[in-house]
Amino acid sequence: MTPSDSPIKLLNKNALVDGFQRVHTYLRISVTDRCNLRCAYCMPAEGIVYRQKQELLTFEEIERVASIMVKRGITKIRLTGGEPMVRRDIEKLVYRLARLEGLKTLAMTTNATLLGDKAKVLKENGIKALNISLDTLKKDRFLQVTRRDQFDQVWHGIQSALSENFEELKLNSVVMAGFNDDELLDFVDFAFENRINVRFIEFMPFKDNEWNIEKVVTYKDMMQTIESKYKLTSLSADPSAVGKDFSLTDKTGKPGKGTVSFITSMSDSFCSTCNRLRLTADGSVKSCLFYPAEINLRDKMREGATDAEVEEMIRYSLSLKPEAHAPAEELSQSDNRTMIEIGG
Ligand code: GTP
Ligand code: 5AD
Ligand code: SF4
Repeated sequence: MTPSDSPIKLLNKNALVDGFQRVHTYLRISVTDRCNLRCAYCMPAEGIVYRQKQELLTFEEIERVASIMVKRGITKIRLTGGEPMVRRDIEKLVYRLARLEGLKTLAMTTNATLLGDKAKVLKENGIKALNISLDTLKKDRFLQVTRRDQFDQVWHGIQSALSENFEELKLNSVVMAGFNDDELLDFVDFAFENRINVRFIEFMPFKDNEWNIEKVVTYKDMMQTIESKYKLTSLSADPSAVGKDFSLTDKTGKPGKGTVSFITSMSDSFCSTCNRLRLTADGSVKSCLFYPAEINLRDKMREGATDAEVEEMIRYSLSLKPEAHAPAEELSQSDNRTMIEIGG
């Protein structure tokens, strides 16, 4: 093998690199903008105008874009929504994507309402990593934040996920001052007793999501609360991970079965190591969670664009990716889409 055709050289030549030399290996695909919950921090109270079926990418179109990207170095794909499991036959898409050559991890983020019956087939069809959103362990608060009385279904979904032994299982909790910041220790108790990674997320601003700076609890404050009961020990992590990870021991020195992390977008952002690209349910590439510009692939694909042309549009989107997101107060005024439309 000559130096010019070494694998590293090939990877560099094809890789999805932005203007700040960040290599993109992680694609988040939103499969629907619909959700069966109505979380206040995610969608406006009056709802959103849902896309019509023909506006959404078909499974074939999703697979095509994913395949183009995997050939360019994407090794991890996460399916998101809205709620990904409300898209009919989602397990069939999982089956197809899991078989893309070069893909190492197929993941999903779900609200777990429909997981009880589907955890097994999702695992069998190729989901390796599952993240579940749950902001409160109290039934009445769940109804308050999600505007739907589905706590029991979610709890059943979590139990099914625990018994399926996914390679990675995480619980995402968005922490909001005055709403659930008194439940931090209850969540950590859950992580102590179960093989799960509980992640506390700093509340981020999106269009019409009732955000204000007073509702943000910083990870440092959260750590202080947790350290009243547990010892947290920092774990090393992939440099492009969004979480700071910790193992747990209680005051007697007994280690916990699970771990705890903090996603610190507001108090300590991690843009410099970002490796993420997004594909929206209606077929646009979005290079940054907080950057409104989107490049629509759907229409060009339907007009017959070649793979090379699709790739060119993806690279154009990457070339627009900002170095870092704007400060929180500025983001809350931006004309970015709602979180439910972006998918996290
Ligand atoms: P892992 O692959 O397990 O690390 O999951 P993830 O954190 O990428 O995905 P998940 O859908 O569980 O999202 C958890 C939180 O991280 C949500 O609040 C997301 O909005 C946030 N998040 C995901 N990607 C990004 C990103 O690129 N930038 C920022 N600021 N937040 C992100
Ligand atoms: N701030 C932080 N995280 C959020 N999520 C949804 N809205 C917000 C927000 N405003 C999380 C959900 C889900 C993930 C995809 O994004 O809880 O776990
Ligand atoms: Fe639905 Fe998740 Fe948004 Fe809640 S956070 S409305 S569960 S997409």
